[in-house]
Amino acid sequence: MSQPSQFAVFGHPIAHSLSPRIHQAFARQFGIALEYRTIDAAPEDFAAAVHGFFAAGGAGANVTLPHKGAAFALADERSEAATRAGSANVLTLLPDGRLAAHNTDGDGLVRDLTERHRADLRGHDALMLGAGGAARGVAWSLLDAGVQTLTIVNRTPETADALADAIGEPARVHTRYWDDLANLGSYDLIVNATSAGVLGGGLQLPLSLVGARALCYDLAYGNAAIGFLAWAKAAGARYAWDGLGMLVETAADAFALWHGRRPDTEPVYQALRTAD
Ligand code: ATR
Repeated sequence: MSQPSQFAVFGHPIAHSLSPRIHQAFARQFGIALEYRTIDAAPEDFAAAVHGFFAAGGAGANVTLPHKGAAFALADERSEAATRAGSANVLTLLPDGRLAAHNTDGDGLVRDLTERHRADLRGHDALMLGAGGAARGVAWSLLDAGVQTLTIVNRTPETADALADAIGEPARVHTRYWDDLANLGSYDLIVNATSAGVLGGGLQLPLSLVGARALCYDLAYGNAAIGFLAWAKAAGARYAWDGLGMLVETAADAFALWHGRRPDTEPVYQALRTAD
């Protein structure tokens, strides 16, 4: 009997990743046997670890913090979404053994918002907090999904300006100063793309940002999202969601890239939510 295909998620740290559980649950839907493990690689070891994994027969890899930029850089081919974001969360093996980089974060976010949560983003005025790798992964997808305007606010304003320049839609995409958040008025959609919660810190955000029907979304999930979601609820947001659904959706895109089949995400999402 042939060995099960080998998959892995690379990160640092990575021990608490939900990806092995998610991919095993997807695989069971199709009766596919696979191995999916976590690989903790320090940044200086990342490229060698990836090449070693594929040289030893690895069939596909997920990549998470802090390696998404390095994964994009080491790939031989890059999807359009990965190229726009300058980062990758999925690596696939090309038939000739070279590696292709993909970024499924933006599609995963929009699918979670529009399909799971039934949100219609068209016409929304959106505020994005943060302009780092996570923000770059989702900004274009929010615009493609029809948000009317996207205001990017970052602690370091130059990074927000660079992202807005890269998007190149000055009529729809604006930047503002973090110090000015209290004077910006309110938004229909607020996306927390900062790593403040992941790093264990909190954000001091004015309640005035949250519009009457606002939808607030943290790209992080679990403990890292608690502070932002508590703020959103205190400010009267209509909806406050964490990024667990996005994680499951991005995993489904990776699964589809590797196996050519799209899993049913809802039972996997519900099982993880219940286990919260
Ligand atoms: P990621 O891949 O998670 O986006 P990143 O590329 O390091 O990680 O980006 C982190 C983002 O969170 C940046 O926008 C960062 O702001 P700076 O560009 O000013 O560093 C933002 N961030 C992190 N901690 C923050 C904090 N305490 N307050 C506000 N923004 C913060």
